[in-house]
Amino acid sequence: MKILIFAGSTRRDSYNRKLAHAAAGIARELGATPTVLELSDYDIPLYNADLEAEGTPADVIRFKQQLHAHPAWLICTPEYNGSYPALLKNALDWASSPVKADPQWSDGVLPFRGKVVGMASASPGSMGGLRAQSHLAPLLLNLECWVAPRSHAVSLASEAFDAAGNLQRLQNRQGMQALVEQILWAAGRLA
Ligand SMILES: Cc1cc2nc3c(=O)[nH]c(=O)nc-3n(C[C@H](O)[C@H](O)[C@H](O)COP(=O)(O)O)c2cc1C
Repeated sequence: MKILIFAGSTRRDSYNRKLAHAAAGIARELGATPTVLELSDYDIPLYNADLEAEGTPADVIRFKQQLHAHPAWLICTPEYNGSYPALLKNALDWASSPVKADPQWSDGVLPFRGKVVGMASASPGSMGGLRAQSHLAPLLLNLECWVAPRSHAVSLASEAFDAAGNLQRLQNRQGMQALVEQILWAAGRLA
């Protein structure tokens, strides 16, 4: 099973990027093939329909292709003001916008429909970014993703990882493993 894992942060020392990489290790141990996508590798401008009318940026198409190529995803989102960051919203909005000039991508929902998507979050706070997940879920459901019922929030994230990026607390390792297992199981059942 191929699983796409990405974080809604491009910060160098991002907790959510660390979480994405830790989850990839877990996925690999479970026999899956993870791809960790870095949003910083994609040159995606702020969405503007006038800009889009001049042509969908090539990196948006690349992003759509990656989403579409993976039946299972895990999104690790930061929490900004009780929600998920504009970076993530912007990338997903672009990816959901139909490319009228390109028959392959004229259906905006195509990269999303039927994907099994798990959500995790990490934050220095005590709630671990849980509220960001509650905002992200409706967006994913609107795009016809199958959102995994399990999720995991890494609280007190500044102390959650060791120097190598491993999750130090057993509770976080177990929670992430259960989440990744569920995503892989559900994607296998839907395939
Ligand atoms: C504009 C802004 C709003 C934030 N709001 C929240 C919040 O509502 N809840 C929270 O737990 N952390 C909040 N934070 C702190 C982030 O959780 C913290 O910056 C975290 O490191 C971001 O994730 P990252 O490490 O993956 O980049 C906020 C940070 C910023 C910049």
